[in-house]
This record gives sequence, C-alpha cells and structure tokens, in this order.
Amino acid sequence: MYSIISPFLLSLPLLSLAGHGSPTFGHKRHHTALKRRTSYTLEDIYRGKDFLNSSQWTFYSSADPTDGLVNYLDSQDAQKNGLAYVQDDGTAVLAVDNYTTLTSGQNRNSVRIATTKSYNGGLFIADIWAMPYGCSLWPAYWSVGPDWPAGGEIDIMEGVNLNKNNQMTLHTSAECSIESAVSKLVRENISMGNLDCASSNSDNTGCLFIDNDSRSYGQGFSNQGGGVYAHEWNESAIKIWFFARDAIPSDIANQTPDPSSWGEPVSVFSGSSCDLSSHFYEHTLTFDITLCGVWAGDAFGSSGCSGSCADTVADPSNFHNARWKINYIASYQTS
Ligand SMILES: *[C@@H]1O[C@H](CO)[C@@H](O)[C@H](O)[C@H]1NC(C)=O
Ligand SMILES: *[C@@H]1O[C@H](CO)[C@@H](O)[C@H](O)[C@H]1NC(C)=O
Ligand SMILES: *[C@@H]1O[C@H](CO)[C@@H](O)[C@H](O)[C@H]1NC(C)=O
Ligand SMILES: *[C@@H]1O[C@H](CO)[C@@H](O)[C@H](O)[C@H]1NC(C)=O
Ligand SMILES: *[C@@H]1O[C@H](CO)[C@@H](O)[C@H](O)[C@H]1NC(C)=O
Repeated sequence: MYSIISPFLLSLPLLSLAGHGSPTFGHKRHHTALKRRTSYTLEDIYRGKDFLNSSQWTFYSSADPTDGLVNYLDSQDAQKNGLAYVQDDGTAVLAVDNYTTLTSGQNRNSVRIATTKSYNGGLFIADIWAMPYGCSLWPAYWSVGPDWPAGGEIDIMEGVNLNKNNQMTLHTSAECSIESAVSKLVRENISMGNLDCASSNSDNTGCLFIDNDSRSYGQGFSNQGGGVYAHEWNESAIKIWFFARDAIPSDIANQTPDPSSWGEPVSVFSGSSCDLSSHFYEHTLTFDITLCGVWAGDAFGSSGCSGSCADTVADPSNFHNARWKINYIASYQTS
C-alpha cells in the first residue's frame, strides 16, 4: 500500500566512542567512557521571527476532528486576531481567543499548526516556556502521519482540563503494542496505561505512559518556566525525555544533543512488539489547542471542573492562560 523508503535502511548511524565528541563535553564524557552514542546533526530549527513563515508551518483551518468547540483560523486570520505571533524576544505564541464573549455551545477561535516538512525519524527537541491549561482546554504537541491511523501518531505532550501529569501516547493501525515486560524498564514516577497502540472501531485510547511529575504538564509546567521535551524516533524505539527548565542538559542548549547522556526517558515505546517503520512515517510536527471535544469535554467533571464545558468556553476570562509559548523546535538527524 505504501512505499516508504526509510532513511534508516539506507544509512546506519555513525557510532562514535564517548569522549571523542565536542571538546566542551569531553570532561563530562570521561565518566561514561566507552558508552556508544549516536551522533546527531541539526537539520531544522523553527524559532524566532520566521516561526510563522508559511514556508515552515501550515495552519489547519478545517473542523476539529476531535469535535472540539473551536474554529481553527488560517494563518492570516490567526495573526490578524492576535492568536499567532512572535514576541520581540523571539518567543512564538499560539493562543485561544481570550477577549470574545460567546453564547454557550458556540465555538471559540483557536489555532492548530503543522510543519510543512514531514519526517521519517530523528531526534526532536521542543523548548517550550509555557503551555495552555485550565478547564475545557485540551492542548497537544504531537506528530502525525498520513491516512490516520495508518501513518501513526506520537503524542509527546497532551492532557486536558486541570491535569497535572503529562500523557504520552502512540496511536497506530492494527498490530502494534507495548510489551507488558516494558513496565520493568519504566522508571520511578512513570506509570504505564493501556498497552495496545492500535485504534479499533471507536477505541482510540492508544498505548501510553503518564508522568507523575507535576512539572510535566499544565500549570506546574508553565509556572516554573516550562522546559524541554525531547523525543528520539528510529526503527528500534520511540523514546521521550522531559527536562524541567532548571534541568535542561547543556548539550541540548549547545545543539550537540547526546541522548545517551540524559538518563532514563519518561517513555520508551520499543520496536520489539511493534514494527515502528511500517506504523510511523511522514510525520509532521503539530501544535494545537482544542476545547472540550471527545476528551476534555467527556472528562470535564471528573477532572475537577465545575459547570459545563460549553459554558466555560463561552466566557473569555477562562482563556488567559490558554497559550503555547515556544522558544524553539529543532530536528536532528544521524550523521
Ligand atoms: C536508535 O537509537 C538508539 C539510541 O541512540 C540507538 O542505540 C539505536 O542503534 C538506533 N537504532 C537504529 C536502527 O538506528
Ligand atoms: C520566509 O522564509 C524564507 C526562507 O527563509 C524567506 O526567504 C522569506 O523572506 C520569509 N518570508 C517571510 C514573510 O518572512
Ligand atoms: C520521583 O518523584 C519524587 C517526588 O516528586 C522525586 O523526589 C524523585 O526525584 C522522582 N524520581 C525521579 C527518578 O525522577
Ligand atoms: C505519584 O506521586 C504520588 C504522590 O507523590 C505517589 O503517592 C505515587 O506513588 C506516585 N506514583 C508513581 C507511579 O510514581
Ligand atoms: C489575554 O491573555 C493575555 C495573556 O495572559 C493577557 O495579556 C491579555 O490581557 C488577555 N486579554 C484580555 C482581554 O484580558
């Protein structure tokens, strides 16, 4: 059905011995001598005043497929209405309208953007200052391939309403799961949810991990200046790391990322019970902010919110924190 030539089949990553990397980090690497690392080279960086350049991101302006109470604006309208802009300090902001009073049940203006470029693997770094949170909100930073769920979906940051914990999820077509044995590999403070990644009929739960660290999502994330989500995707595994603002490794800031030096990921989706190269391809990186819909709406009461989700959407004062503030997004490929 699909003929995707995986870059991983064409070139094996160069393995370099620890200690032979950038001189700046030679000292640190002495402690992990002989540990093999994958060398990554910067491929794309999305940041600063060109962030909203149409050559980089496509604004999605169709109806929300998750039934959210949003109107996704195109690039021109989003910028004209102050819902997508770049601050003087280079921070890219994606926001929900927080100034229009609606009647209950009406859709509120919001944004959903995706990279024009698609990826078949790599190492991705998202440095984010703040994220949307509050009742009715369902923000996500994710990547998705064509013909959902055939091309797969990787949800790197996602949650709803007043959630304090980040949920990381894969969605796929049939025959992809997390091995139950992997629970032993998951580190302290990470809990494993559903094991089956495949969507079937109306069950789109996906396979998932939840981070117990309250800095990983929502107000807890934003109040301490956000942080970095890094994910490495190749045919062996999809791994996600989270670093709070004060714990970002210097190799990330220096654009010489070495995942082997970062410690345990917060999620490991192993290729041992999922053929990752056939389930994940041609992904665009995506940010969105939807409201209510099939997750935030259904979970509204159980996540500590009162009243109805639609009434919450009608009042603009509920959306002063409904903003992604993005420092940069970078992609790296093996060299
Ligand atoms: C995937 O990345 C890991 C970690 O860098 C590496 O050990 C592994 O060899 C890579 N697998 C492939 C198929 O490139
Ligand atoms: C968008 O980016 C391209 C390539 O970097 C550049 O030539 C162009 O001037 C940019 N356009 C705007 C409107 O910033
Ligand atoms: C687990 O959470 C506790 C309490 O927040 C924290 O002290 C500990 O460092 C965390 N462990 C890891 C490995 O992050
Ligand atoms: C999450 O944190 C709570 C409170 O600190 C603790 O009781 C619980 O055991 C933690 N769960 C995991 C999976 O770490
Ligand atoms: C919308 O939210 C922003 C950011 O919190 C705030 O600066 C602005 O004053 C808010 N708008 C209104 C109309 O309150």
